[in-house]
Amino acid sequence: MDYLSITGPSRLEGDITISGAKNAALPLIAATLLSDAPCEIDNIPDVADIRTLMKLLGKLGSRFTFEDHTLVIDNEEITNTTATYDIVKTMRASILVLGPLLARFGRCEVSLPGGCAIGQRPIDLHLKALEQMGAVIDIKNGYVVATAPEGLSGARIIFDKVTVTGSENIIMAAALARGKSELINVAKEPEVVQLCEVLQEAGVKIEGVGSDELIIEGTDRTPLKFAPFSIIPDRIEAGTYLCAAAITYSTLTLHQVRPDHLDAVMAKLHEAGCRIEESGMSMTIYPAARLRAFEISTTEYPGFPTDLQAQFMALATQAEGVSIIEERLFENRFMHVSELQRLGASIHLKGHTATLNGPIQLLGADVMATDLRASSALVLAGLAASGVTNVHRIYHLDRGYEKLHEKLHSIGAKIERLKE
Ligand code: UD1
Repeated sequence: MDYLSITGPSRLEGDITISGAKNAALPLIAATLLSDAPCEIDNIPDVADIRTLMKLLGKLGSRFTFEDHTLVIDNEEITNTTATYDIVKTMRASILVLGPLLARFGRCEVSLPGGCAIGQRPIDLHLKALEQMGAVIDIKNGYVVATAPEGLSGARIIFDKVTVTGSENIIMAAALARGKSELINVAKEPEVVQLCEVLQEAGVKIEGVGSDELIIEGTDRTPLKFAPFSIIPDRIEAGTYLCAAAITYSTLTLHQVRPDHLDAVMAKLHEAGCRIEESGMSMTIYPAARLRAFEISTTEYPGFPTDLQAQFMALATQAEGVSIIEERLFENRFMHVSELQRLGASIHLKGHTATLNGPIQLLGADVMATDLRASSALVLAGLAASGVTNVHRIYHLDRGYEKLHEKLHSIGAKIERLKE
């Protein structure tokens, strides 16, 4: 197993190119199951979660090549509609094949994802919506067994909660359903918006894209034909590098970003005292004279993303005053707290709220990554800490950050990837 060894404190300088968004690529790759013709997708990040989804699609019968961030995939001859436990257990987002497989083939079996490190994470809303579209759903031997022999029918669906992959699954299902679907309280994340735009390009009529109410006219099982497209930039990766600059009092320029997807994140960095200049698809962050405490409450887009909560907690350890961070989406997404405390952070946790006192001079230590975003928070803390911080179990990082240590090394971090 590999680990990252960081010697801090670091000062960074230079330019970083942001990769394509993992959370946009996953549903869009799943969406190719709605097509029986070859599809070409560019700017796919080369990260473990993407490889996992491709392995799953390979088992279903997809034929594809993935080279230099471009995927060419042909799902004409899908021979199997079962997403097995061995794959789903390594990546919950495998559930994204449920909607498209059921919509195109009228049946599928997907292993139940179960809980994960950051919380319970049920899929009840995905299943309830598919039932409203006429699916019969059974849970057998740990699998969701879904059938719709006559195909899915359009329906009026009100999501009880905003769910990102839930919205994506039902949007994909509605695209091939018979008749009109009206989806209410849909997630508005940029990744959901890109899915809708790509489906529109493929001829699916969708009204309300970007809002929380969509009207989708299904094709009644006529497979889609996708034009080539490119994945949007990863706003979470960009936010992580903005934090890396802020926590090390450095100037950094990011390229291939969508600043308009980062409004809530930039607002918090301004609150902390940093200055950011935007220029088209680039942005430069300048250091604060002195980082100031801030308050965060995670919520759905366009609010502050839960996927940057841990990284901003690392940042709060260096901010002067009392920072308050409230996690509202996932009940257990504070696993990084005890690891940050090992570096010396002053964090008081009560319920869903962490209160931090800063600034604290962090001291390097051995720490363990517990989930994808918590891992990057530990790397950020390691950049600010003095001495050596070893971040173990970085397979979590590999799931979603492309070449993190190489990118950080290129801007001056003393960081090495080593074998245990
Ligand atoms: C997606 C993202 C993840 C991000 C999260 C929230 C992908 C692949 N993953 O995860 O990085 O952290 O959005 O922005 O895009 N819920 C239910 N029932 C359901 C579905 C969800 O109760 O059927 C709850 C969840 O437990 C959670 C909340 O709804 O409390 C939001 O979860 P959801 O948006 O579904 O997260 P994911 O789509 O799994």
